[in-house]
Amino acid sequence: MKTIAVFTSGGDSPGMNACIRAIVRTALHHGVKVYGIMHGYQGMIEDQFRVLGSDDVGNIIQRGGTILKSSRSKEFLTTEGRQKAFENIQKRGIEGIIAIGGDGTFAGAKVFTEEHNIPFIGLPGTIDNDLIGTDYTIGYDTALNNVIEAVDKIKDTAASHDRLFFVEVMGKDAGFIALRSGIGVGAFAILIPEVHTDLEGLIQNLDAAYKRKKSSSIIIVAEGDDAGGAYKIAEKVVAKLPQYDTRVTILGHQQRGGSPSALDRMLASQLGYEAVNSILAGKHSVMVGIVNKQVVYTPFEQAIKHHDKVNTDFLKLAEILAA
Ligand code: F6P
Repeated sequence: MKTIAVFTSGGDSPGMNACIRAIVRTALHHGVKVYGIMHGYQGMIEDQFRVLGSDDVGNIIQRGGTILKSSRSKEFLTTEGRQKAFENIQKRGIEGIIAIGGDGTFAGAKVFTEEHNIPFIGLPGTIDNDLIGTDYTIGYDTALNNVIEAVDKIKDTAASHDRLFFVEVMGKDAGFIALRSGIGVGAFAILIPEVHTDLEGLIQNLDAAYKRKKSSSIIIVAEGDDAGGAYKIAEKVVAKLPQYDTRVTILGHQQRGGSPSALDRMLASQLGYEAVNSILAGKHSVMVGIVNKQVVYTPFEQAIKHHDKVNTDFLKLAEILAA
């Protein structure tokens, strides 16, 4: 293999740049030319390719976002779009592709490789941590730290004004960010999509807490919780517990930005390195992840179907510590 391409796709995540750097430098070490595709699958269709040298990935390991930019391409969902993308790959003699993204990225890769026979490796890059085949996704640790830093500040106001805060964090289908950040900030309750939210139970617990003079509390709500977002849930709680001085904060995209943590830089560097070695060794249509410190290959069709079950021990732990 003499020429490969790399791109980032879906929601950006801190550490994507560190990963691009590792891919480019490992490939160059093996004498392999690397194209960067701008704007993910959309750039593949629109012929946005640039050759990446070692200098192009210098001084980016500490930067959040992605220098290759990202997109969620609707056109790639069509056969015609994928055909155009393949022609652009072929005309440059690209023999292998590495994508950094989440389940949507791998779903695209699965269809693409079924239609066009080209080696394709995926790397888990999403703040959501909602993929099987890896303990952690690139960006998750930084996002957790971002949430914890923000909520620590909110806790100052909560304590000073004796308030109840509902803080909504990202995760439209997954509660991983909510669960770990909730434990990290000492939340009173953590509401996640994987577990049915018992609003009546929450109201009773809050009522009991008020009676025992617990003066301030934080409730972490994953955006995809089955009881609704933080505003909706807060509205229902306030209707029953008007004694609480309640506020809502939606953390939003600040969770996804910023300089990657040490853990994310390390993970991104290791996975980028392993991806190049894997594709050169003939691996195909798999996501490369790390499980229990071991490199693991998960076929795209599995990586897109499931996400790891939420750790119920952590839910119990959160409940006990929140007393
Ligand atoms: O997939 C990562 C993620 O951050 C989700 O947690 C969130 O629901 C979504 O992306 C937001 O996407 P966008 O930036 O396109 O609004």
